[in-house]
Amino acid sequence: MPDDASDPYATHYDAINEWGPSDDFYLDLVLSADAVLDVGCGTGALLAAARAAGHPGRLVGLDPDPAMLALARRYADVEWVAGHLGAVAFDGEFDLVVMAGHVFQVFLTDDEVRGQFTAVRRALRPGGRYAFETRNPGARAWERWTPEHGTDVVGEHGEPVRVEHRVESVVDGLVRLSETYRGPDWPEPRVEWATLRFTTAEQVDALLAETGFEVLERHGSWDRGPFTATSREIITIARPGPRPATGRR
Ligand SMILES: C[S@@+](CC[C@H](N)C(=O)[O-])C[C@H]1O[C@@H](n2cnc3c(N)ncnc32)[C@H](O)[C@@H]1O
Repeated sequence: MPDDASDPYATHYDAINEWGPSDDFYLDLVLSADAVLDVGCGTGALLAAARAAGHPGRLVGLDPDPAMLALARRYADVEWVAGHLGAVAFDGEFDLVVMAGHVFQVFLTDDEVRGQFTAVRRALRPGGRYAFETRNPGARAWERWTPEHGTDVVGEHGEPVRVEHRVESVVDGLVRLSETYRGPDWPEPRVEWATLRFTTAEQVDALLAETGFEVLERHGSWDRGPFTATSREIITIARPGPRPATGRR
């Protein structure tokens, strides 16, 4: 398991990202499917909750971050796999693939998204579904990623931890930001950097079509409200169509 000094992101992830409406949305989907793959499963909360709720089938969580996966492995009744979907290459094994917690936004180019979608399509059984969300650029979430919107959480030893975001740049849909952790475990603030891509619904749909998906459902909020220009989320449930528009599998 990671310690505070080495991996503040993993250690405090669950405290910062408490169970919420998005988790309820995905949990309903997981419970309605037989074999499920959670890409970018992080600390494993979704599949652990599904198992605890009585899901009887195959549940697989995949994540490339060893510190996140080490926390997921606390739940021994779920299969945890380290790595990237393209490298693991599941083949026709799942009724549902989910990618929750805005994992989609770590894919920074169209080619990376195409690669990911293609690998998801390969992992699905015929008739399978793929559910994921990305933040709608129209809602400009990055404007709220400022220190005054920081979060105070309790660390794993009961210590107070302050987490703040700062945006360094917003260029062509790529938002570069820092996440700063302050607490008694660190003599100096710990700063983690990330880049997230903001993609429009039209771009998402074009990439899905290119890789052989059709959109089954589109929502703008976790209560299945309609998607609008300023909805916070672009929530998509897709399924493999008859064949990819470009011939890619
Ligand atoms: C914001 S967390 C989301 C975790 C979890 N899905 C949730 O809903 O809480 C993003 C996760 O995506 C993972 N990740 C980063 N790059 C990835 C990739 N290329 N493929 C799959 N997962 C990735 C990270 O390691 C991290 O655990």
